[in-house]
Amino acid sequence: MATILSPDVSIRLVPPAALSPLVVPERLLLGPGPSNADPRVIAAMNHQPIGHLDAAYLAMMDEVQDLLRYTWQTANSLTYAVAGTGSAAMEATIANAVEPGDRVLVAVKGYFGYRLVDMAQRYGADVVTIQRPWGEAFTLDELTAALEQYRPAVLAIVHAETSTGVRQPLEGVGAACAAHDCLLLVDTVTSLGGVPILLDEWQVDLAYSCSQKGLSCAPGISPFTMSSRAVAKLDRRRQPVANWYLDAALLRKYWGPERVYHHTAPVNLTYALREALRLLAAEGLEARWQRHQQTAAYFWDGLKDLGLTCHVEESLRLPTLTTVRVPDGVDAKAVSRRLMADYNIEVGGGLGELGGKVWRIGLMGYNSQTENVDTLLNALGTVLHQKN
Ligand SMILES: Cc1ncc(COP(=O)(O)O)c(C=O)c1O
Repeated sequence: MATILSPDVSIRLVPPAALSPLVVPERLLLGPGPSNADPRVIAAMNHQPIGHLDAAYLAMMDEVQDLLRYTWQTANSLTYAVAGTGSAAMEATIANAVEPGDRVLVAVKGYFGYRLVDMAQRYGADVVTIQRPWGEAFTLDELTAALEQYRPAVLAIVHAETSTGVRQPLEGVGAACAAHDCLLLVDTVTSLGGVPILLDEWQVDLAYSCSQKGLSCAPGISPFTMSSRAVAKLDRRRQPVANWYLDAALLRKYWGPERVYHHTAPVNLTYALREALRLLAAEGLEARWQRHQQTAAYFWDGLKDLGLTCHVEESLRLPTLTTVRVPDGVDAKAVSRRLMADYNIEVGGGLGELGGKVWRIGLMGYNSQTENVDTLLNALGTVLHQKN
């Protein structure tokens, strides 16, 4: 048989040793994310891909857009899913809202606020920050005073700060931004699908989220939306968006009626997101938020019984993500390791300033169930009793 290569070249690298077919361990994911996906979402992914311009796929895109609008409670026509994780959608908001030299005010009260700072700087923004201690939120007065002082083009803030477990109240912030001719950009990565969000009511101009937390989907496809005010700023740009892949001016032609090819969409993830959002809509937003709140309250009661305390005061505590203080003399990492080794439970450690001081426990989407709380509290009680 004729060889495919010319005689003077040869394959030098040998294949790795033959592997057995993939086996993925079963875990209960009760950390900051990913959370376990709903099995019905995994089943939805398990179909052959179809073309990203197939009429059936285009219809699915429309359904995803409508479902996202419902989930966020927004009428924004520019609402779609970015092909990438939450950080890609985060970068999409910055890339599309910020022109070099724009002043961006970031209200920082945890790790992800700093990620917004980093991204805005990379897009040439004149970034200013205000800060709150990790475990607290900003008041409307503080935010309004900062708008008055800095006169930014964009105010960026995290609704659900995953590093601290704080819910940032947003009532009135959008109106204050509008009054200062500023766009409000909000990170809803750890809140969408688990914590009340009313995007239009709160006059939010740009928002993003992820799929792998409150939506109970696999990671890799991320909600993104822009208000008409944000779109007007995009349309006035002097220079094109610096990031081609995330440019909403191009992507709206694919997600909108023109259907202009932009990239090969992650079609199986779209199946998954559609199913995740369909399940959310079938449950109903209010019922879903209620379930998260009830499961979290049940967890917080159980923590008290174990003698453990929460880092965040109850009125600002996220139902999706709880930061639990590590008792004196306990090795936080050793406890997490035991939970994984003995019970297949993943919990998160503290990030940044809170490293070693808290565990981060997520009860999000499909995982927000009292049975999971019982499983975790039993395991945690036993492991702590063993004195790590
Ligand atoms: C508040 C917040 N923003 C952004 C991100 C980044 O999302 P991803 O890890 O999906 O890229 C995360 C991730 O956990 C997050 O918690």
